[in-house]
Amino acid sequence: MHLFTGSSHPALAKALSGELKVRLGRMTVKRFSCGECYVKFEESVRGKEVYILSCPGRDPDEDLMELFLICQAAKLSFAHRVHVILPSFPYSRQDRVAEPREPISAKLIAYLLETSGADHVITLTLHSDQIQGFFTIPVDVLDARPIFAEYFRKKKLKNPIVVSPDTGGAKQAKKFADILVADLAIMHKTRSEHNKAEILEVVGDVSGRTCILYDDMIDTGGSMISAKHALIKRGALKDIYVAATHPIFSGSAVNNLKKAGFKEVVITDSMTLPSTFPGLKILPIAPLLANVIRHIEKGESVTEIYK
Ligand code: R5P
Repeated sequence: MHLFTGSSHPALAKALSGELKVRLGRMTVKRFSCGECYVKFEESVRGKEVYILSCPGRDPDEDLMELFLICQAAKLSFAHRVHVILPSFPYSRQDRVAEPREPISAKLIAYLLETSGADHVITLTLHSDQIQGFFTIPVDVLDARPIFAEYFRKKKLKNPIVVSPDTGGAKQAKKFADILVADLAIMHKTRSEHNKAEILEVVGDVSGRTCILYDDMIDTGGSMISAKHALIKRGALKDIYVAATHPIFSGSAVNNLKKAGFKEVVITDSMTLPSTFPGLKILPIAPLLANVIRHIEKGESVTEIYK
């Protein structure tokens, strides 16, 4: 196998290459002065299993364009198969026509990936299961749940309850609660406009409980902060934890989360971070990705990893 990456997350690429004990392939990625991206494999990929790691972050469009070009370069250079490792799937929230005259952006991203030459996608904690159906190529959807479970189990929290900040994430939060042998509460969230969250109701008794807010991503942090206020109002213990796979942390998210006074904000390193703050815990995903890739390379079950 041959591992390559663009410019989106050098630290994760390094960690993954270390876990796999495979050196990172040589590749040029640069920009013309007009902003157009240029990529080139600096070594042969002919007949090879090519793995391309990309972690679109706070500049998702640039990172995606770079990924499409790398995929096409691999294909045009006779790679045997192009495996895209895309832990954070950009545009994943736009997975349906929520209001008339909108695109299904996540479906378009899937189409563009395939058209660029991807033969297989490995992704982590998809925003919704239906995104798998946007592809005609195989997609391995990994989950960060075991990583969070291992972390929180060790804490032996008093009277824990897992809280989903919206109904969309309830199914995933329930699975997480089941591993922790904890109860589940679900919030009813509305948005008056993009990036503005308001919690209207909480289903479940959170009074006197240690709450773990569980979600797939934190973007502005608005959902989590609004959820925290709702929990405190309903008598939850003041030490509130947050667990979310993808730290988009756009705008003033870092400052807002810092000020919100969570006991801990636990995330993975699926994306680069603008900055850190006390109480931010970053759980590494490279060991999981490496394990999955090893299983794929040996033609062994990936599902086994979750047992
Ligand atoms: C929404 O459905 C997602 O699961 C997250 O709850 C949301 O995207 C988080 O966004 P923000 O941090 O801006 O509230």
